Amino acid sequence: MRLWSLLWLLGCRAAAWWSDDYSLDDAVGLGRQLDGIGAISGGGATSRLLVNYPEPYRSQILDYLFKPNFGASLQLLKVEIGGDAQTTDGTEPSHMHYENDENYFRGYEWWLMKEAKKRNPSIKLIGLPWAFPGWIGRGMSWPYAYPDVTAYYIISWIIGAKKYHDLDIDYIGIWNERPFNSTYIKILRYALDKQDLQRVQIIASDDLWEPISFFMLTDSELHEAVSIIGAHYPGTETVKAAQLTLKKLWSSEDYSTFNNEVGSGCWARILNQNYVNGNMTATLAWNLVASYYEELPFGRCGLMTAQEPWSGHYSVNSPIWVTAHTTQFTQPGWYYLKVDGHLKKGGSFVALTDGLGNLTVIIETMTRNHSKCIRPPLPPYVVSPQKAVFHLKGSFSKLKSLQMWYSKLDFSTANSTLFQSLGPKNISEGILALNLGLDEIYTLTTLTTGHKGSSSEPPPSQPFPSIYKDDFNIRNPPFSEAPYFADQTGVFEYFINASDPGDHVFTLRQVVTQRPVTWALDATNTISIIGNYKWINFIITCDIYIESNKGGAFIAGRISKGGIYVPSAQGIFFWVFPDGTYRVTRDLAGVDILMKGLSGVRANRWHTLTLILKGSNISGMLNGYPLWENITTHSPENGWAAIGTHSFELTQFDNFHVEAS
Ligand SMILES: *[C@@H]1O[C@H](CO)[C@@H](O)[C@H](O)[C@H]1NC(C)=O
Ligand SMILES: *[C@@H]1O[C@H](CO)[C@@H](O)[C@H](O)[C@H]1NC(C)=O
Ligand SMILES: *[C@@H]1O[C@H](CO)[C@@H](O)[C@H](O)[C@H]1NC(C)=O
Ligand SMILES: *[C@@H]1O[C@H](CO)[C@@H](O)[C@H](O)[C@H]1NC(C)=O
Ligand SMILES: *[C@@H]1O[C@H](CO)[C@@H](O)[C@H](O)[C@H]1NC(C)=O
Ligand SMILES: *[C@@H]1O[C@H](CO)[C@@H](O)[C@H](O)[C@H]1NC(C)=O
Ligand SMILES: *[C@@H]1O[C@H](CO)[C@@H](O)[C@H](O)[C@H]1NC(C)=O
Ligand SMILES: *[C@@H]1O[C@H](CO)[C@@H](O)[C@H](O)[C@H]1NC(C)=O
Ligand SMILES: *[C@@H]1O[C@H](CO)[C@@H](O)[C@H](O)[C@H]1NC(C)=O
Repeated sequence: MRLWSLLWLLGCRAAAWWSDDYSLDDAVGLGRQLDGIGAISGGGATSRLLVNYPEPYRSQILDYLFKPNFGASLQLLKVEIGGDAQTTDGTEPSHMHYENDENYFRGYEWWLMKEAKKRNPSIKLIGLPWAFPGWIGRGMSWPYAYPDVTAYYIISWIIGAKKYHDLDIDYIGIWNERPFNSTYIKILRYALDKQDLQRVQIIASDDLWEPISFFMLTDSELHEAVSIIGAHYPGTETVKAAQLTLKKLWSSEDYSTFNNEVGSGCWARILNQNYVNGNMTATLAWNLVASYYEELPFGRCGLMTAQEPWSGHYSVNSPIWVTAHTTQFTQPGWYYLKVDGHLKKGGSFVALTDGLGNLTVIIETMTRNHSKCIRPPLPPYVVSPQKAVFHLKGSFSKLKSLQMWYSKLDFSTANSTLFQSLGPKNISEGILALNLGLDEIYTLTTLTTGHKGSSSEPPPSQPFPSIYKDDFNIRNPPFSEAPYFADQTGVFEYFINASDPGDHVFTLRQVVTQRPVTWALDATNTISIIGNYKWINFIITCDIYIESNKGGAFIAGRISKGGIYVPSAQGIFFWVFPDGTYRVTRDLAGVDILMKGLSGVRANRWHTLTLILKGSNISGMLNGYPLWENITTHSPENGWAAIGTHSFELTQFDNFHVEAS
């Protein structure tokens, strides 16, 4: 019924609707401008293991993500502004742990942005905080109590990016999936302008379309401060209020789906339909690359997978090639053509032009069961095989051929065709006819630069080495974290004590001293995990140096959980405290106590802890002598190794050694 009246209004010939005809015409005026397709690193620690890949594999992975006309050729990169707190799969360090502290060389997001820019100088960069260091909240888990301080903190990050890394940040966000504050947004805009950062555009509020849209409609100063309304997981739809703002609309976080064929179907569908249904001109995938231990939450929800730096193994999953269908044949700034992009028998298309005669059409026919995203629920719909006839008009009427690129997702034998060049497709008299099947993607384009990149086969998959040690003497510049350690609460970074007589000059130090303005429910104790989740039997040894009388340190094995679930992590934890006691617990919270007693441990002294887990028999040693033994426990059964501290206190670790199976 709707279709009938629409065609009637457009004055189409009655014949048009049963022959499935579509018109591609730039003479009727152009639609919105594409802002780009991209992905998110962070939120949290999703690129953690990538930095530790050996060359040439690390560069190959980066090429698949960023190199133009090679793989995903991403147009946007959004990174987390580390806030020292747990933000889904780990913590990322802040550039200001403390009020008088500034350091623009922590973490890996700077490095990642530079690697992206190296490959594609026109990639646009976005920064967004999920969490903030504790001093921002001054005792409250809230970043808006002193909005000028928060604005200063964020702008320092933008200025630091330029000063230390020559990175221009293009867009800045407010607080990921948490409340916004209008006063803060205005102060941030004002402060950016004052720093001559007019070009940095504000995205708000990285949550739902509402209430930010309502606020903008009734507050002209806020309306002016915000350049882009960014919504998360919009299900390809927008709302009236957002449209009425006349602002750019982005799906500023989307996808979040396991990167198999269904994940690819999800990604293909939303890349088109976020514009077709919701006028959105940018879509960002969480996450860029699954580079975190797979058993952490949302394992393998990245465009590709690189979670084994110890072996060099990685996999270029199909979402990379789905992305290429759009990104290799468009640029931010291209215009969508004004068309209703719904295909008559299901599926969608978008058509874009650079305004200089180039045309790119992307068609997807994803069936519902094969394109469900993790959220929101997908209402029922039907897609059937169909013949689609496109009529090229306006500047495109003289085109004689278009390059054709093709994918078909296969769900029975997992034998998909991905981003295959089908060469030029002839067009006669401005008519392009296609027989569309199910779960297919087509790109038809005037551009001849498309390319399916490839590298030599990566090494085979290997489990984490069963013997692993690190004395933290050999650093991995420019990174602040030791290889493979994945912080889940607190931040563990390289530390140099120049006045140490020799044994412990280079150490790893937990540096968060105050509970952050959190995004998730961080644990009350800090923890960094490492190793293989399947490990059962362990011998872990590590030197520890507790720097405060309020502190405490542990080594642990069989850690059951991390990420946003870290507060309820179980395992076998061997704790020592500076009051001269020890404890053995089955949980990170430290309440499920198996054993406790005296150890003689003191603050500001080095001690060596050893934890031996052999089947159900567990025992611990201090400075090479048995401290407790023959405790029997059957749970938990397996998990990672870990180090950590009691509460947020400075503590150092050295000569970490694990032997496990
Ligand atoms: C925003 O923050 C300011 C400054 O802290 C505060 O006065 C105001 O009440 C906040 N507004 C809202 C809506 O929370
Ligand atoms: C938004 O999309 C709808 C549906 O395609 C379209 O009718 C409308 O003109 C678009 N609005 C804007 C402002 O682009
Ligand atoms: C299309 O894009 C290419 C590459 O940007 C450019 O050289 C060309 O002039 C554009 N126009 C046409 C009609 O091909
Ligand atoms: C989609 O999946 C549902 C639930 O598994 C099933 O009942 C339905 O038949 C499937 N539809 C198609 C078209 O395969
Ligand atoms: C996979 O597809 C290719 C090309 O379509 C075909 O030659 C091959 O036999 C298929 N393999 C399987 C296992 O179905
Ligand atoms: C496409 O057009 C070219 C040039 O006119 C011609 O040589 C070629 O045979 C045509 N291909 C097909 C498949 O019709
Ligand atoms: C550095 O080493 C010296 C000498 O051993 C020691 O007194 C001091 O506490 C150490 N500082 C830190 C922060 O570890
Ligand atoms: C632990 O078990 C071993 C072997 O059964 C035994 O020799 C040892 O005395 C036990 N240690 C303690 C503290 O009970
Ligand atoms: C438990 O393990 C400890 C340390 O490896 C060992 O000394 C002890 O004999 C074992 N106890 C039993 C009962 O096997």
